[in-house]
Amino acid sequence: MWCMRVGGENIEDMISVVGLGRVGLPIAAVAADAGLEVVGVDVDEKKVKMINRGENPIPEEPHLSELVRAHGGNRLKATTSYDDASECDAFIIIVPLLLDDNHTPDTSIFEDAVRSVGRVMKKGAVVVVETTVPPGTTENLVRKWLEEESGLKLGEYYLAHSPERIMTGYSISRLKEFPKVVGGVDEQSGIKAFEIYKKFIPNLHLVSSARVAEFIKIMEGCYRDVNIALASELFKLANELGIDFHEARKYANHEYCHVHLPSTGVGGHCIPVYPWFLIKEMEKRERLNYARLLRTARELNDEMVNYWAERIVLECKKINKPLKEVKICIKGLTFRKGVRELNHSRNIVLAKLLMNNGLNVFVYDEMFNKEKIEELGFRWIEPKDADIVFDTFELRTILNK
Ligand SMILES: NC(=O)c1ccc[n+]([C@@H]2O[C@H](COP(=O)([O-])OP(=O)(O)OC[C@H]3O[C@@H](n4cnc5c(N)ncnc54)[C@H](O)[C@@H]3O)[C@@H](O)[C@H]2O)c1
Repeated sequence: MWCMRVGGENIEDMISVVGLGRVGLPIAAVAADAGLEVVGVDVDEKKVKMINRGENPIPEEPHLSELVRAHGGNRLKATTSYDDASECDAFIIIVPLLLDDNHTPDTSIFEDAVRSVGRVMKKGAVVVVETTVPPGTTENLVRKWLEEESGLKLGEYYLAHSPERIMTGYSISRLKEFPKVVGGVDEQSGIKAFEIYKKFIPNLHLVSSARVAEFIKIMEGCYRDVNIALASELFKLANELGIDFHEARKYANHEYCHVHLPSTGVGGHCIPVYPWFLIKEMEKRERLNYARLLRTARELNDEMVNYWAERIVLECKKINKPLKEVKICIKGLTFRKGVRELNHSRNIVLAKLLMNNGLNVFVYDEMFNKEKIEELGFRWIEPKDADIVFDTFELRTILNK
């Protein structure tokens, strides 16, 4: 094993980051850059090999390439084997937690990662969950899984939550500047986790519990989901009343009013997911009325594709061709401009909705080549060759002919 601790080394100087994705890799790289020895564990062998060669598997993330080049295979060692992390005294877990078809949290990947940590962690280890989870998950499920696998009891190890609040495309700068919170399942755990993070996160705040830390992240996601639903609703209303929404928004927004931008819906594996953590929990407790606004915002955001499909069809009718022959280009398939992520993308749903209605739909996305677009089940086109282009990020339709 290549990550043996050298004599006299400070125990918290060796940490493991479990999950080297869009969030985990930036954290691992920033920690390595701050001088820590980092063992990154990921099930993706290809990614692991790239990182150890100093190649960045997420090239679109600014500044990450420099850090991976400098530390990959050296202070940041990637591996597919949890055993290679057994010497680490801190484990940061940042793997996805998904929703099933019924919007209920699917903890299978997350549980697998937590249990794997439980099997290798030693007495005195500090485990920090960064994956966004329903409130109470760290102190209940994570604690149970870790203790079942390790045979240790809280106090012999430490457990905390520190939600990841970065945004893809701004990960490195956010880790260096954005306030990060950490909360323990008990006081000692909070303090231990805080001490570790302080070594590489400058703007760090200790909160009273893991549950509070978990809720902070969900609160932020719910705020954005509801705000985007409101923005889309105001946009539709303004349009109906013949008012320029963007002009009105510019002057309406100030310190106490921050209306977001309308959209085709809310995608990615964060914001459309987190409200469900609360909605489903309230459903279980038969308190669904407590989450009515969250539920409505989810519905409104998901329904935005219908609104845009209708608008696109109206525009198509301005073209002197039978409707089903009009070449429509949906420009922008990812959930957000410049981010190579298709998870929960409403732009995919929009393109499919138009296709399922028998329209002549093509797709263009600057993040993907023709082959990838075709792999996703769409026909590719250059925007200039379509009759009509709908830009899913600008929410603009352009008639080419
Ligand atoms: N992407 C964001 O902007 C963002 C922002 C805030 C919080 N988050 C949180 O971070 C979580 C992860 O997001 P991401 O964007 O990094 O996901 P991602 O899909 O980019 O990366 C997840 C990584 O985990 C690895 N993995 C899966 N199962 C594993 C296992 N059992 N052991 C080790 N590695 C495993 C995958 O191979 C992958 O590399 C999200 O579910 C969310 O809770 C994401």
